[in-house]
Amino acid sequence: MRSAKYSGAGPASAVVAVIDVPIPVPGPGEVVVAVAAAGLNPVDVKIRAAAVDFGPIRYTDRPGWDVAGTISAVGPDVAGWSVGDRVFALAGFPAAAHTLADYAVVPVTDLALAPSAWTAAQAGAAPLAALTAWNALEVAGVVAGQRVLILGGAGGVGYLAVQLAKARGAQVIATASTAKHELVRSWGADQVIDYRDEASLAATAAVDAVIVTVNDTMPPRGAIAAGTAVVTITGFSDEQTASIARWGASPIRKILVAASGPQLAEIAALADAGKLTVQLDSEYALEDLAAAQERVETGRVTGKVVVVIDPQA
Ligand SMILES: NC(=O)c1ccc[n+]([C@@H]2O[C@H](COP(=O)([O-])OP(=O)(O)OC[C@H]3O[C@@H](n4cnc5c(N)ncnc54)[C@H](OP(=O)(O)O)[C@@H]3O)[C@@H](O)[C@H]2O)c1
Repeated sequence: MRSAKYSGAGPASAVVAVIDVPIPVPGPGEVVVAVAAAGLNPVDVKIRAAAVDFGPIRYTDRPGWDVAGTISAVGPDVAGWSVGDRVFALAGFPAAAHTLADYAVVPVTDLALAPSAWTAAQAGAAPLAALTAWNALEVAGVVAGQRVLILGGAGGVGYLAVQLAKARGAQVIATASTAKHELVRSWGADQVIDYRDEASLAATAAVDAVIVTVNDTMPPRGAIAAGTAVVTITGFSDEQTASIARWGASPIRKILVAASGPQLAEIAALADAGKLTVQLDSEYALEDLAAAQERVETGRVTGKVVVVIDPQA
């Protein structure tokens, strides 16, 4: 079968290849998925560029964590899953999972049935970003009626955070460049502010929660009141954390996404209820993985970049 492979650290065009490897065999508690599509995330390109572990996230020369496809083999001690089930997963994260391949091993704890409302490409693009957005809102404790500010409302995580916050009944304010405002509103944002418009950002009234999805980005001072929850997926410097704490924010948390089949099942239920869609920025074949990674590296994507492994699925 085909599998993506890195030859070492470096630019995508120099180190990304497709090789031939044996089809994997599932161990206890695992299934093999015939991969239809696998999403790309900024972490994929950061890991490839440096060829080192990224915190707890393991470097692997055979990349990929997001996956959607059909179960083709079931390992020992697996109940409730059958060959032919259409599934999606964030597989094994932060251990290596090798989903940018024709077949991939997935622990059943990470699996959920793919929503029937989504194409295979949409399901393959969603898991890491959707679980990140889900956890950010959970840690921030977002509930109906609250005001939530999402910094970076058009990126891979942010556009899902907008929809999931809306599904929780929140009033959603998001930042995005002006060209993307109509799209961000179509996902449910009540107000969209251009992140270059400092006057409008400064005028943002206090919110109950801020979700930060953009590197090196601080919440606007006016958005923080006593008890505003601030959750970042990119991290703050110690100085930034101290400032936000002085303004009264609490809690202030950095999160790392975790694999979870049960959470993906809840995400799938929202999708099938018409409350969550996947915006595809672009689709690439496995042989064009280097170009797909270069697209992610622009930092300008709208929604998700996905690699379609089996166009017939
Ligand atoms: N902690 C975790 O578990 C976790 C999980 C997933 C991702 N992450 C990290 O979170 C970051 C975002 O991930 P992602 O997948 O959402 O990235 P992404 O899809 O690459 O984000 C691209 C988007 O960011 C927008 N953007 C750029 N600068 C902005 C700014 N100053 N304000 C608002 N929007 C801005 C761009 O819009 P324009 O084109 O209009 O500029 C574009 O739509 C990455 O660093 C990633 O590694 C962390």
